Amino acid sequence: MKGLVLSGGKGTRLRPITYTSAKQLVPVANKPVLFRVIEAIRDAGITEIGIVIGDTGDEIRAAVGNGKRWGMKVTYIPQEAPLGLAHAVKISQDFIGDDRFVMFLGDNCIQGGISPLIEGFGRSAYNAQIVLKKVEDPRSFGVAELEEDGRIARLVEKPREPRSDLALVGIYMFDHHIFEAVNAIRPSARGELEITDAIQWLVTAGYSVYPYVHEGWWIDTGKKDDLLEANRLVLEELQPAVQGYVDRDSQLIGKVIIETGAEVINSTIRGPAIIGEKTRILNSYVGPFTSIYHNCLIEDSEIEHSIVMEHCSIRGIPHRIEDSLIGRNVEVSRSPLKPKAYRLVIGDNSNVGVL
Ligand code: DAU
Repeated sequence: MKGLVLSGGKGTRLRPITYTSAKQLVPVANKPVLFRVIEAIRDAGITEIGIVIGDTGDEIRAAVGNGKRWGMKVTYIPQEAPLGLAHAVKISQDFIGDDRFVMFLGDNCIQGGISPLIEGFGRSAYNAQIVLKKVEDPRSFGVAELEEDGRIARLVEKPREPRSDLALVGIYMFDHHIFEAVNAIRPSARGELEITDAIQWLVTAGYSVYPYVHEGWWIDTGKKDDLLEANRLVLEELQPAVQGYVDRDSQLIGKVIIETGAEVINSTIRGPAIIGEKTRILNSYVGPFTSIYHNCLIEDSEIEHSIVMEHCSIRGIPHRIEDSLIGRNVEVSRSPLKPKAYRLVIGDNSNVGVL
């Protein structure tokens, strides 16, 4: 079996972060979502993956490399534009050949334990299997209706009036018949070749398409609040570990991970939280559900329920920072300049809440 990871697309809902970088590389509990996807595929015993890339392809290649780190062989498949998930499958036909494969969306975060499912599909006679999850509001997802015998009856992409509460999780398993389907369908109203239409084509043509309903949590990390939620869920599952330096005046409470080369001086970290490699926390408070990535400085400040990406500095901020997603190389500091004023350099579509 092979793996196909989709890491193209534009990521408009995560702007401004995604103006300059790939949404799949935003770290959740200090590990890019895409790396979590690759590890889930590796855990199912797959050693060959194709990664579909778009405008941010160079950055994805730089981060993932040749896959050796995971013991995998990686092939990059450039997509000229985000023309749809089924289009991504179409351009991957040479890579997949006649193999059975699992397709995983590179921005989806799922609670572990699905590798038996992927391995099982490798041995099964199903033509396709899709992962579903019961959700409260399925309108922003593909939605599945089931037959009485459990097979898939109908799939609709982002319906205004969903006829079930079963959303399509971004994990799909196929045999080579999917290529007939992606070559037969036409673009949808939003101009994309939809994978839901391709799977519907398989169902209508009489191929066997079965669901698997996932019971654990699943987050499509398309927006800031979803990322913070994924961060919260993953942090809760981590085991505490201290690989960096914590001085005697500091306190670590609950599940806290201090990565190699990190320093915590005269500070309190209340877990679940993770402090990245070579990051310094000085005279500060880091509260629950916070991930501070590599090479950051937090000084004389308080922060919780947030993700801070690499090379940021947050210094002397008098009020607690909460519910925030802070991109790379960001500086947040108190200015001694008079007159007292907010002085901001902020990208398009940013969101700032001040007291
Ligand atoms: O997250 C689950 C949902 O993912 C499903 O419920 C929907 O049925 C499915 O269509 C998809 O919807 P999204 O609107 O969330 O897909 P998005 O455009 O965010 O793309 C998902 C991933 O695939 C993302 O990592 C970017 C990548 N992608 C997307 C497109 C459209 C590509 O690599 N190429 C593409 O052409």
